[in-house]
Amino acid sequence: MNRERFPGLDGTVRFDAPAGSQLVVSAADAIATYIRSPVANAHGGFPPSDRTDAAVAGARAAVANLFGTDPANVVFGPSMTALTYLLASTVADSVGAGDEIVCTRLDHEANVSPWRQLAESRSAHVRIAEPDPVTLELSVESVERVLSERTRWVAVTAASNASGSVPDVSAIVERVHARGARVVVDAVHAAPHLPLDFDTWGADAMFASAYKWFGPHGSMMLLAPELMQELRPRHLRGGPGPGVEQWERGALSFEQFPGIEAAATYLSETGLDRIGAVESELLDRLLAGLDEIPGVTVYGKPPRRTSTVLFNVEGHAPAEVAAALREREIYVWHGHFYAIELMDFLGIDGAVRAGLLHYNTADEVDRLLEALTALTRPGSLSAAGQPGGGS
Ligand SMILES: Cc1ncc(COP(=O)(O)O)c(C=O)c1O
Repeated sequence: MNRERFPGLDGTVRFDAPAGSQLVVSAADAIATYIRSPVANAHGGFPPSDRTDAAVAGARAAVANLFGTDPANVVFGPSMTALTYLLASTVADSVGAGDEIVCTRLDHEANVSPWRQLAESRSAHVRIAEPDPVTLELSVESVERVLSERTRWVAVTAASNASGSVPDVSAIVERVHARGARVVVDAVHAAPHLPLDFDTWGADAMFASAYKWFGPHGSMMLLAPELMQELRPRHLRGGPGPGVEQWERGALSFEQFPGIEAAATYLSETGLDRIGAVESELLDRLLAGLDEIPGVTVYGKPPRRTSTVLFNVEGHAPAEVAAALREREIYVWHGHFYAIELMDFLGIDGAVRAGLLHYNTADEVDRLLEALTALTRPGSLSAAGQPGGGS
């Protein structure tokens, strides 16, 4: 779908989407136009500076529209990881000795390490919500089970970047709030796949990164108005007053903003429901095909999921599988993808991940299936020249 709008699609098969997508042409063009024009820092009050202010405001409005909130709740930053550390350090005082923070087995380390480290620094405890060991569904009850009177924060993903599992975030937020704790949602993997509605969910904070959804490298933290009012991130004397700019700390990478605006607009205009329908057909084809290849283990069968599939091939290390696919110009990721909690839970060191986006095709899925079939054929040679079934 819309392949012609992605100039980075060069004929190679790109199933590396959970690590980053191709830019939509409108985002690439918008960045080029901005950066080829006279530029200036923000808030100067003359035309090139006004253009910078407009680029930031345009991106804030488009991101707010995409995620169902007000532009005044959208904080920009260099990466989700950096923004999560910023939030965790800013709320440190809200956590005392003996308090609890809940993380999950489905989360990327960027939504685990900052909270674990915060807990350690405050003599607080981390409790972990576990998914179903077979389906890898993270139920609302599994989160509720680890809540207590001492829970202060819950860090949960809107979709696993490894198994594709999609927890019911809205219901989780409701249960957590009923216990008086706060919820931080990692929407980095979910954003190019599902409609996300920050205000309706009522989450306290949510993170996303535009490079996963057809834009440039640049990320955002959505903060509920109550937290925006309450929290005071460390900032410079003489700097901006309360509000998003107090969190943004200095001159941002302004060049990214026309691209973020264009990418967010592309997603809103295309519609996540339409995108989801295309992805779901591709996913069904991939899962059915993998099921027929002997020696392939697919991890998880979550009822709600993205088009991201985690698997291993018997007798072949994940790196070897990825190398064999690379020989055929099929690009996938292998390793732990920072889904370290999930790897530990599954008892594996790593796996192969094929992540599909709406710009992929059935033909590309078939190329992947053919390549895996060839790899698992008895007597086949691995990319490294080792007989299949080696390392
Ligand atoms: C689910 C998820 N969360 C967080 C991150 C970290 O995002 P960033 O690279 O913007 O720090 C990633 C990156 O792959 C991710 O997939």
